[in-house]
Amino acid sequence: MLRPSFLNFSSVNFDSVQQLFSLALQIEKKRLDEQASGISLAARASSSRLSSYVAALLFFEPSTRTRASFQTAVYRSGGEAIVFEGAKGNSLEKGESVEDTILNIAAMKPDVMIVRCQDHVDLKALAERTQIPILNAGWGVYGHPTQALLDCFTLQKRWGNLANKKILFVGDIRHSRVAASNFELLKILGAEVAVAGPEQWLPQDTSGKIVFNNLAEALRWCDAVMALRVQVERHAMMHPMSEGGMYSLDNHVHDMSAWQLNAITLKSLSADALILHPGPVNWGVELAEEVQSDKRNCILEQVYNGTLIREALIRKTLQLELK
Ligand code: CP
Repeated sequence: MLRPSFLNFSSVNFDSVQQLFSLALQIEKKRLDEQASGISLAARASSSRLSSYVAALLFFEPSTRTRASFQTAVYRSGGEAIVFEGAKGNSLEKGESVEDTILNIAAMKPDVMIVRCQDHVDLKALAERTQIPILNAGWGVYGHPTQALLDCFTLQKRWGNLANKKILFVGDIRHSRVAASNFELLKILGAEVAVAGPEQWLPQDTSGKIVFNNLAEALRWCDAVMALRVQVERHAMMHPMSEGGMYSLDNHVHDMSAWQLNAITLKSLSADALILHPGPVNWGVELAEEVQSDKRNCILEQVYNGTLIREALIRKTLQLELK
């Protein structure tokens, strides 16, 4: 039987998202119960080794959170991870293409491939050709659906549901695959979406979204704000002919000064609203250092929830029971 890949939200609906969130909550409960009952690490190891599988983590772009949380999820669900990261020490250095690399790893028959790559790689075609499910771990600017799942899971855990909740995205939205995937998922979950930031970084398609040109007004409107990283590496890929040193983050501190979340601007955000960021954060650019201690900051909660969501997704893909 061909197991389904997860590349975007095209075949996802409200109920399937809720089923995944429910499985993630069961995983969390099991983990907390085990910790509370003092179950030994050895006992946990033997129970989690019952259904061993191999996951290939193929990361052709840098990652900390996504790679480590998928790897954690693989181990916690009884699998083994082959981790391939960057171009150093492998045959990409000798000119092998990303596509050939994926095909060769696929020939070793892992049970699932978890891939981060640039837009030009056709993950859909590779999944069809290899007959091995591929989970999108960040695909160019096209999408980062597991990040959107963990973001919305974080909000749903706090609120119960996202229907009619108001979510604001601030910063470099145009180059953000996180924003692209969140827009898809938030629509499925019934939330309202707004965007705000420097003109050149607003999304090209703003249909169905409110556009604010004033940060204070936008923050007063929302129930949660997600700040987005200024993605200089993506600027260099998407606008290679641009001049004037636009690829240096230093050149964008000024662009973000009117849109930074800091102690002053966050006075416009309600006391029970939430602050998110997918990471990595450019501290001092989109977020000021003082946001670290703001009670509304959920950034590390997002990271924690990422391990639950990714384990749930792997279990669902490989039909691994939670015992
Ligand atoms: N949010 C996110 O994708 O972080 P990493 O690039 O560190 O995986």
